[in-house]
Amino acid sequence: MKFDTPATTNPIDQLKVVGRPTDRIDGPRKTTGTAPYAYERHDVAAQPAYGHIIGAGIAKGRIQRLDLKAAEAAPGVLAIVTAETAGKLGQGKFNTAKLLGGPEIQHYHQAIAVVVAETFEQARAAAALVQVEYAPSSGAFSLEKAKGEAKPPKDDPDNPPSTRVGDFDGAYAQAEVKLDQTYTTPDQSHAMMEPHATLAVWEGEKLTVWTSNQMIDWGRGDLAKTLNLPKANVRLISPFIGGGFGGKLFLRADVIMAALGAKAVGRPVKVALQRPLIMNNATHRPATIQRLRLGAQRDGKITAISHESWSGDLPGGQPETAVAQTRLLYAGANRYTAMKLAVLDLPEGNAMRAPGEAPGLMALEIAMDELAEQLSMDPVQLRITNDTQVDPEKPKRPFSQRRLAECLTTGAERFGWNRRPTRPGERREGAWLIGMGVAAAFRNNLVMKSGARVRLDNQGVVYVETDMTDIGTGTYTILAQTAAEMMGVGLDEVVVRLGDSALPVSAGSGGQWGGNSSTAGVYAACVKLREMVARKGGLDAKAAETAVFADGQVSAGGKRFSLAEAAGPQGLVAEDHMEYGDLDKKYQQSTFGGHFVEVAVHAFTGEVRVRRMLAVCAAGRILNPKSARSQVIGAMTMGVGAALMEELAVDEHRGFFVNHDLAGYEVPVHADIPHQEVIFLDETDPMSSPMKAKGVGELGICGVAAAVANAVYNATGVRVRDYPVTLDKLLAKMPPLA
Ligand code: MOS
Repeated sequence: MKFDTPATTNPIDQLKVVGRPTDRIDGPRKTTGTAPYAYERHDVAAQPAYGHIIGAGIAKGRIQRLDLKAAEAAPGVLAIVTAETAGKLGQGKFNTAKLLGGPEIQHYHQAIAVVVAETFEQARAAAALVQVEYAPSSGAFSLEKAKGEAKPPKDDPDNPPSTRVGDFDGAYAQAEVKLDQTYTTPDQSHAMMEPHATLAVWEGEKLTVWTSNQMIDWGRGDLAKTLNLPKANVRLISPFIGGGFGGKLFLRADVIMAALGAKAVGRPVKVALQRPLIMNNATHRPATIQRLRLGAQRDGKITAISHESWSGDLPGGQPETAVAQTRLLYAGANRYTAMKLAVLDLPEGNAMRAPGEAPGLMALEIAMDELAEQLSMDPVQLRITNDTQVDPEKPKRPFSQRRLAECLTTGAERFGWNRRPTRPGERREGAWLIGMGVAAAFRNNLVMKSGARVRLDNQGVVYVETDMTDIGTGTYTILAQTAAEMMGVGLDEVVVRLGDSALPVSAGSGGQWGGNSSTAGVYAACVKLREMVARKGGLDAKAAETAVFADGQVSAGGKRFSLAEAAGPQGLVAEDHMEYGDLDKKYQQSTFGGHFVEVAVHAFTGEVRVRRMLAVCAAGRILNPKSARSQVIGAMTMGVGAALMEELAVDEHRGFFVNHDLAGYEVPVHADIPHQEVIFLDETDPMSSPMKAKGVGELGICGVAAAVANAVYNATGVRVRDYPVTLDKLLAKMPPLA
């Protein structure tokens, strides 16, 4: 089915099941520990061998000598696979560096060997006996130092290296009020709970991997490419995932090394990336340096807006698209954005929750706060003053829906924004300085082709099958809700099977496109199944069109029959996918929100406590307010991490992230997170899909960190432009104590 005209009324609009705050249908399995994760597939391989990956001890250079003798002689060791013994490997489409390095080393902790043994402990002990001699070469590890050499990234129509509208320089020079500031965001790690993990099983030339991956079909393709196998010989199974945040969009070393290990020992092999390996072996969100220049009239209207961003990656890598939101968020006739990419020899940078917008808004939304202050204007009002209903780069192109202003006004009212101290540092409660901050939230809405199969059995039970993943987001539940609504059955009569490359190819979970796109795929398959049911029930085309599916029954044209009857003893199967025309080109599809934060900053220690948070989101139809809220509060939590804690510390001499575990890489815990509220504006977006929904899982993080930083400024009068806002950056500048 092709979606190329705006959605009209359809069965989803009944909202009997869709749109309800349904509990997650996978909840009982998750909470009772019976949802098996990749490393726990005891059911499919009773006696696997265990692989332990060795990561490179240098950032760049060559392996001079790899002495495996002692390790090979260690108890329980079955095989050691290295680049030398692995045979020729191909390069997957989605990886910048090789997943098995050597003799050339491209980054620190790049996998150079897997030791396979009878037990995990034996594999780990033997890995410690492997002797490696390196010939290190010098590399570039500092974005600040490499910035001067940075070049425009290769052209990408969606994210061009630079954009220009009007005459920025002229308009900026003449602007009544100007701001020119530079902000930095650090390297960040996804830090998901479940490590990357794989169980690999070969049957002849056929490989099955139980793994933890967001994008089954991408992974399948890259696994086949890397191992030089036909795609048909590779099966990827990933039904439960303990968090991804973009870190599991692509294959990592666990998959390749488990497959190579299993091949070498002729039996199933399990490999998990040990936690201290993840930060440097897997991908991370790259650090940025961002320069914002804003020129405005006295009344707050922006006349000139420029955003330049520098980031780094390995040779052949990509930039962090931190200017993405600045192209679309605020009006202004004269505009300039540019990205520059520096070659760094740090581990591979890549997507992390809301790549582009999340770090981009961390800079832009402080800049807006600073501009508001210069103008003596309320920061909510400044944003509303510069709202636009059309793409500021292409004024003929409207947004499909844009209710940014309503998000901000609703949020201001609900949060008690009028109680915000107008002068920084003026409100105290004992030793605590109190402040409020706001930021706009913005994230583009992407649509992706997505397929599904729906079966109806002779009991009237509906089975949904697609390779879509649930990375903790609630996909099982919203797909069940979609099928239940379409087929007129209760949620209990829907069974959802996900995360298996043997099933129809879906959109996968990424870029907050998964919810809208995968439900649209199920919608398409259900439309087909409804037609089949109508035919089986003897309805003519006209009656079929007006048929009502409810309570397991179909009624039309005076006829009434059950789904079970229509299915017959053999049952019925329909498969289809939703693909998209150019509605997303004609209309800019984005999601919007407002984040409001109250903080208390300790006057003596500079400790920041977030006290209250509110997000108001406009993201199309909310398919399940409960799981959507859960996505948003999770994202808000991650935003607090970005604001106050998260930073991969770079060793600029040896070229690696020093704090490579969850003790050193701090993320918020429950005690850090206060009362969080989420309001969804009641809206539907007919341009996005027949579901009229949009993404929301990434919108929730966008802008949060800036709202926190702005609140800290409001509390203390100290403006921190280098994230994270840690107390050492505050202390020296804190206001004198009365
Ligand atoms: Mo997302 S960063 O595309 O999982």
